[in-house]
Amino acid sequence: MKISRFEGEVSKSKAEAVIIPFYEDRIPSSSMEFLGIDRIPESVKNTGFTGKKGQVFRAMDTTRGQMQLWTGLGKESEYCPETFRRSYSSAYSYFRDSKIRNCLIILPGTDNANEAFEAAYILKLTLYSFDEFRSEKTSADLKEVYIATGEKQDIIDRAVSVAEATNFTRNLANLPPSRGTPSLFEERSREIENLKITVLGRDDFIRMGMGGIEGVSRAAKEPAKMIIMEYGSSDEKPIMIVGKGITFDSGGISIKPADNMDEMKFDKSGASTVLGIMKLASDLKLKKHIIGIMPLAENLPGGSAYKPGDILKHYNGKTSEVLSTDAEGRLVLADALAYGVEKYNPAKVIDIATLTGACVIALGNNIAGLMGNDRDLKEKLKKASERTWEKVWEMPIDDDFRNQIKSEVADIKNIGGKEGGAETAGAFLENFVNGRPWVHLDIAGTAWTQAKTAKADYLPKGATGFGVRLLYEFLCS
Ligand code: BES
Ligand code: MN
Ligand code: ZN
Repeated sequence: MKISRFEGEVSKSKAEAVIIPFYEDRIPSSSMEFLGIDRIPESVKNTGFTGKKGQVFRAMDTTRGQMQLWTGLGKESEYCPETFRRSYSSAYSYFRDSKIRNCLIILPGTDNANEAFEAAYILKLTLYSFDEFRSEKTSADLKEVYIATGEKQDIIDRAVSVAEATNFTRNLANLPPSRGTPSLFEERSREIENLKITVLGRDDFIRMGMGGIEGVSRAAKEPAKMIIMEYGSSDEKPIMIVGKGITFDSGGISIKPADNMDEMKFDKSGASTVLGIMKLASDLKLKKHIIGIMPLAENLPGGSAYKPGDILKHYNGKTSEVLSTDAEGRLVLADALAYGVEKYNPAKVIDIATLTGACVIALGNNIAGLMGNDRDLKEKLKKASERTWEKVWEMPIDDDFRNQIKSEVADIKNIGGKEGGAETAGAFLENFVNGRPWVHLDIAGTAWTQAKTAKADYLPKGATGFGVRLLYEFLCS
């Protein structure tokens, strides 16, 4: 699919379909010009279309031979980028299984550069489908898209790159667990240009004292890997991004209930986001120095599995008492964080992980938990989040939470009880960043969608790619 800016007079467009925006209380001049009307005709109002948020009225213009998709944006005074994303996404979803090959997109023109970016970005996200394993492919026939905008093509191209990186992340996170293995992540990382790749394996974990990833991966046949990717010049202190890559989380000896255990294939979502952001940095040739780290392992039970009661020693020498083998994410992240901080001396550290069910209970499926030790970094990420659909909400880490994970036989324990489960996980990770400015994003609720939690049309069932756009906006800020 090619997305370009439209040159010339929109009314002369021969596109097979046109997206036309409406506010509830005003018709944008771009739409007025295209349609030659100054109010919604009674006949259209009679169908129920008034320009309300998310409404789509479809009609065939037989004289032009064009399908028109009138798209409601709600009241102009309540307009925000998310309204734009959701409304355009509702209209775009029509293309999913239609034969339309090309379309013209008209913008309301209130927020020009953003509209051009979002129009292209959301289209790619809406038309995504994970059909690698289906004989019947679902992909839309849409090949050519024109956006009527005065902005430069460059904005559209950047939006397409961000969307493609997000869909790349979705493809990884959606992989069945026996396919989306640590080795597959290694293969994919080596396919990205401009990255320096280091891969550590089991022998290295033992030799270097990475007891967390060593312990968690002990029972799996599939080899665990710690993949370190470096992008950009090394003169400048890097930004380090670490993503949890449990390619399947059975819970281990503290095994999970069978119901919905398949969803634990998504426990590699954090690592998938990190790989997506590295690909994006490389595609866009961002002028940044970035370290991406993916601790990748399967968490399985077995004769050689690590056990509740075990004590593991992490890369920075701290020990943790394992009270549940199902709190494995923090154990592998501990080594990744401690190693990255020591080796690369990063200016800022961010980790992203499907870490706790507690975070899902606290914030639901549309908001990620944000924790950290640095006001400025936290604010920057919140600001970046305001530009995207990827919402975050800060949760506290304080001495009470730190006390909850004190152990009598080791430095810390890997669970702190059900109360404040997201925060005690954050408090655990804090031990491994050596005081560097650090933010932890718990994406357990937002990394994938289930059928029962209705979301926007740009989020398909399965992996969402949460974090790619957010970290991109952060890196650009
Ligand atoms: N991967 C899970 C967290 C998770 C649970 C993500 C549900 C998405 C949905 C993590 O490894 C885990 O099992 N966490 C435990 C921690 C507990 C044992 C302290 C949890 O949240 O139940
Ligand atoms: Mn677990
Ligand atoms: Zn997990």
